[in-house]
Amino acid sequence: MTVIAIDGPAGSGKSTLARLLAERLGFAYLDTGAMYRAVAFLALREGVALDDGASLAVLAREAHLTFAADGRIVAADHDASEEIRRPAVSAAVSEVSAHAEVRAVLLDEQRRIGAVQDVVIEGRDIGTVVFPDAPVKLFLTASPEIRAERRRKELIAGGEHVGADETLQAMVARDAYDTGRAVAPLRRAVDAVELDSSGLDIEQVVEAARHVVMARLGVGA
Ligand code: DC
Repeated sequence: MTVIAIDGPAGSGKSTLARLLAERLGFAYLDTGAMYRAVAFLALREGVALDDGASLAVLAREAHLTFAADGRIVAADHDASEEIRRPAVSAAVSEVSAHAEVRAVLLDEQRRIGAVQDVVIEGRDIGTVVFPDAPVKLFLTASPEIRAERRRKELIAGGEHVGADETLQAMVARDAYDTGRAVAPLRRAVDAVELDSSGLDIEQVVEAARHVVMARLGVGA
């Protein structure tokens, strides 16, 4: 089975790219950030402390996370697709995802999914830790201002009204946390191709990614 790994910071355009590439290649698509968000959502809902890695890992295991074909995520029998995008969950998810116990549970699930189907997987540590042997690895970046503006538009589209400064500050804080943590920090795998999406529209990003896929797999997207 073939895994295409796409890593990068929040707002770099990973999700849109991963979804479109998967669609064009006929691959499945897995958003691993949504898995960490679902655990953070459950922790907030159940009142589990964000520094209690052992309890969070139990929550992650018992959530039996599932993805519908249209990408909706179900956690503990509840469709949490909208709730996992709320600012409160974004603010909590970095701390939740920094626990080795939580990561171990979700890593197993991610590897199981990658073992049975061709899949485009996006996250922070897919090319470095989860699938270090993936034949195609992309590391997507963009300037913090552009990433924050993209995230703000997504939030506004979802009915959340947030300021530009506030979004940028929250994003820079989350990047620092994700990059600085001890376990599976956000970083580019040595064999990943870096794409800067700052000045590009989505079609240009997909086109650049398609070239990498063709070079590495010999097939087009
Ligand atoms: O991609 P996202 O912004 O939805 O991810 C939410 C958080 O989950 C992000 O701040 C870091 C964490 N994450 C992670 O630690 N490892 C992954 N493979 C994916 C996401």
